Amino acid sequence: MNLIDLRSDTVTRPSSGMLAAMARAETGDDVYGEDPTVNRLEAMIAERLGKEAALYVPTGTMANQIAVGSQTRPGDELLCDPKAHVYLWEGGGIARLWGVTTRTIAGKNGWLDEPALTEAGVRPGDDHYPRTRLVCMENTHNRLGGKAVPLTVLQSACRWAKDHGLATHLDGARLFNAVVASKVAADALAAPFDTVSICFSKGLGCPMGSVIAGRKDLIRGEAHRLRKMLGGGMRQVGVTAAAAIYSLEHGNIEDLARDHAHAAILADAAEKAPGLTLEHGRPESNLVWIHVDPKMASGRYFATRLKEKGVAVAVLGEQVVRACTHRDISESQTKTAAEAILKTAEEVWRMAP
Ligand SMILES: Cc1ncc(COP(=O)(O)O)c(C=O)c1O
Repeated sequence: MNLIDLRSDTVTRPSSGMLAAMARAETGDDVYGEDPTVNRLEAMIAERLGKEAALYVPTGTMANQIAVGSQTRPGDELLCDPKAHVYLWEGGGIARLWGVTTRTIAGKNGWLDEPALTEAGVRPGDDHYPRTRLVCMENTHNRLGGKAVPLTVLQSACRWAKDHGLATHLDGARLFNAVVASKVAADALAAPFDTVSICFSKGLGCPMGSVIAGRKDLIRGEAHRLRKMLGGGMRQVGVTAAAAIYSLEHGNIEDLARDHAHAAILADAAEKAPGLTLEHGRPESNLVWIHVDPKMASGRYFATRLKEKGVAVAVLGEQVVRACTHRDISESQTKTAAEAILKTAEEVWRMAP
């Protein structure tokens, strides 16, 4: 039985066309700035995001941490929502790497917004307090169900930050999913922020790679320095940058619409199934967060039973599983997975005490 792997869009494998492009890549030593393929990718992304410069890094986590490290000093304070990847899922890097404290704030939709920021405020300019320095947002927002944060929310939150002298970073690991879901161009979504990170290793189907973009002085200065310090200065890495270029030039962004349509099929099944509900309402992108009724089973038990039917999902909480659609999953596999979700829920529900 071929497993339908819906744990994450990071499980995508490079296509044969992508592998061929990687094999053809012109390379050089990127620590010396001499890899022409990396240089081309950085220029392409800077242009697409409307930023002055961009820096290729191995992972989304490193991109986020460079954004934090390059825009704060030890003792500063960062503001983000309590479910932000940079805060929750990066090993405490904000504190451990940069000596920065985090204050989590949520607006009524779970993400940061201007009313919540206004209510929370920056710390007083008094020696007792940390200095509030950086605001981080996420789009699409993974742990809020892959929601595309509305442009007006991003703009007003960043305006507030600028009015208070704070820097702003957007974790855009799935920014292109947000572009497709909200039909707003990437440069418009990126415009309010000082720095923006994006990932190629998720829905775009590349084996690795992320980029952080922003002002030239920041990207070529402190961000470049921190990449080296973190061990992210790579050598003939045009091989993987070529995969990223391939994804940009072969419609992998536009293809995300198909993943979003597939997520809707899975969501239909979860809505129909006994004991399952959508944790964050209807999916807007490729992430389907499903709540498993504790009267029926734990999330882990449900996922184990579902796997016996050939479908893998991620267990992301006691009662929560996540199904993530991606380019290696066809429509017919999606329909098979939807049926398996429904059938598993019916079986587990019948057996529930
Ligand atoms: C929103 C978000 N930001 C950052 C990351 C980190 O990316 P990476 O796994 O490449 O470190 C992820 C990974 O899933 C993510 O979902």
